[in-house]
Amino acid sequence: MTPPLSPSTATSRPFAIVTGASSGIGYELARGCAERGHDLLIAANEPQIHEAAQKLRAYGTDVQAVETDLANAEGVDKLFAAAGGRAVDVLLANAGHGLGKAFLDQDVAAARHVLDTNVTGTLLLLHKVARQMRERRSGRILITGSIAGYMPGAYQAVYNASKAFLDSFAYALREELKDSGVSVTCLMPGVTDTRFFERADLLDTKIGVQKKDDPAMVARQGIEALFAGKPGVVTGLRNKAQVALSRVTPDTTLAHMHTMQAAPGTAQAHRKAKKVTAVAGAVGGIALLGAWWLLRGPAARRGQVMV
Ligand SMILES: NC(=O)c1ccc[n+]([C@@H]2O[C@H](COP(=O)([O-])OP(=O)(O)OC[C@H]3O[C@@H](n4cnc5c(N)ncnc54)[C@H](OP(=O)(O)O)[C@@H]3O)[C@@H](O)[C@H]2O)c1
Repeated sequence: MTPPLSPSTATSRPFAIVTGASSGIGYELARGCAERGHDLLIAANEPQIHEAAQKLRAYGTDVQAVETDLANAEGVDKLFAAAGGRAVDVLLANAGHGLGKAFLDQDVAAARHVLDTNVTGTLLLLHKVARQMRERRSGRILITGSIAGYMPGAYQAVYNASKAFLDSFAYALREELKDSGVSVTCLMPGVTDTRFFERADLLDTKIGVQKKDDPAMVARQGIEALFAGKPGVVTGLRNKAQVALSRVTPDTTLAHMHTMQAAPGTAQAHRKAKKVTAVAGAVGGIALLGAWWLLRGPAARRGQVMV
């Protein structure tokens, strides 16, 4: 059982809550806050959160960890209670997970857990913390959405829809709070190298095996946007281009494109295509060298002409 932080034991340092901080983007977000001198209350659903807390203590601020399922109201209450009434300066609502395969082939309870975690749990926590911030007329919120929110995600349909909700909700909440002293920022990463794909059973898909962004880079851009009070950030140039393209592409086309990335078995096609590209590159290179050798002329080839 995690003892709550009492306001009296709180330090004069700013205080941040980071959900989903045991690994990946959330761990890096928590690290970014610790580097900026924030005491931390971090949460995740498994015991690994305590190891993360131990590592984060190296940055010299207070770090408390809570193991709780943020997919339900009790889990959210447990996290909120652990703050012990201490004023939250920064909330990073990042916990979330995906789920691969066709919707009708998914376990419906698992699909529901995606929504309960990504949407309902996030809303319940925001409702509690953001009210407190509004009362104090001060606070910063980061919500981890995704560029997945910009495309109908065939073979990850529930997840993409949950992120479409969060992307939209973040901008709406920001507008509602614009004169309140509370800023809301939406972090929208693209495919990032974390445990996400393994946990979502996506390792036999193209998105599961393709090259991914570094979670430290993603979190750094998120932290910069958060503390600059920006509305949102799509991390990385490639993802920015993808979002721009998705805004002018019909949803039917986007859904089909998503199939080619997320349908089971697409990893194999991706690997084959990569091999073909590599072989074509090598053949092209050899052909170019041959052409260059032939064009140098017979004298040069015999080494009689210095070029
Ligand atoms: N990786 C990507 O390509 C990508 C792209 C765009 C957006 N995102 C978003 O980034 C966020 C972080 O994901 P990640 O990529 O860093 O994956 P990750 O390494 O798997 O991290 C997910 C974090 O969320 C926690 N979490 C998940 N369900 C939870 C629940 N019900 N209750 C409490 N904690 C829960 C996990 O804790 P436990 O391990 O204890 O469950 C873990 O700490 C997610 O919201 C994800 O949707 C990821």
